[in-house]
Amino acid sequence: MRAIRYHEVGGPEVLRLEEVPDPTPGPGEVLIRVKAAGVNFADTERRRGLYDATVPLPRILGSEAAGLVERVGPGVDASWVGRRVAALASNSYAELTTTPVGELLELPEQVSFEEGAGLLVQGLTAWHLIHTSSRPSSGQSVLIHAAAGGVGLLTLQLAKQVGARVLGTVSNGAKAELAREHGADAVFIHGARRDLADWVRRETEGRGVDVVLDSIGASTWGASLASLAPFGQLVAYGNASGPPPPVEVEALYEKSLSVTAYWLRTPHPEGLQARARAALGQALAQGQLRVKLGLVVPLAEAATAHQQLETRATVGKVVLRVD
Ligand SMILES: NC(=O)c1ccc[n+]([C@@H]2O[C@H](COP(=O)([O-])OP(=O)(O)OC[C@H]3O[C@@H](n4cnc5c(N)ncnc54)[C@H](OP(=O)(O)O)[C@@H]3O)[C@@H](O)[C@H]2O)c1
Repeated sequence: MRAIRYHEVGGPEVLRLEEVPDPTPGPGEVLIRVKAAGVNFADTERRRGLYDATVPLPRILGSEAAGLVERVGPGVDASWVGRRVAALASNSYAELTTTPVGELLELPEQVSFEEGAGLLVQGLTAWHLIHTSSRPSSGQSVLIHAAAGGVGLLTLQLAKQVGARVLGTVSNGAKAELAREHGADAVFIHGARRDLADWVRRETEGRGVDVVLDSIGASTWGASLASLAPFGQLVAYGNASGPPPPVEVEALYEKSLSVTAYWLRTPHPEGLQARARAALGQALAQGQLRVKLGLVVPLAEAATAHQQLETRATVGKVVLRVD
């Protein structure tokens, strides 16, 4: 099969389209004929050697796919063959990939493979940020950084569904418009010579927000903490601008703040991932959740997809189409 591999860490140019052996589904696994593979910010960090750095090279990138079940491994119900599915699946920048059958989400006809490939990594993260980590109640306020990005737009929609007031940050006017279209009540554009925490206070009658969801890290951390209301919670879940400074517990007392983190790869309580996956699939099928496809390019153009994602040029989901 053809797959995107890299033999050394570096810039997008290290990604190569190569012929590699087909994978074989093991016990409890299925083989998926990939139609679309999701691109995630973490893939760019892996490629640069900043994340998962101990995995041996050469390595096929990717962590999610949508496509057709082509074959099942030992112990898997053969009726899966031919069904349209999306799944968390490693090595998914490829024509074929394998994954445990328990990871599969069957895609309804009205959901495209591209949308399916955009649902799981970012959707599960968004779902847990709202329903497992921060759990805002109706009327509370949430500040979402990178609000027009893949995780950002999904989190925004889920936060609105629980009745929260949602503030977002983005880097330009077009992204601000998109965030508003997806439900943001107010949007801050970085670099407009305004202080983010002052803006948040103005937007919240001087109180600050109850929750900040921070995927940017180094460049937003101080403003994120300063934007919180008393008893507010900062959830860290990414380092797009670099790792944040160490948490100073003393600095949390004045407003009784909490700082927590969320990681999709943490072992989750039994059944929780399946519940989140089903909720996302249902919301997508019923039109209550939209996956905004920002950039869809052929598998061979994975380097372009990475370059665009890491220079902040994308909105919504970046997908590789596999023909
Ligand atoms: N913890 C987890 O389990 C988990 C799971 C999935 C994703 N994540 C994290 O969530 C974040 C979003 O992931 P995504 O795949 O949805 O990407 P994304 O948000 O679509 O793209 C990254 C966005 O981050 C913003 N950004 C701010 N500073 C940046 C910088 N110095 N370099 C690059 N981007 C910067 C940009 O938005 P603006 O231009 O609007 O500022 C950019 O568009 C990433 O940090 C990712 O690692 C974490």
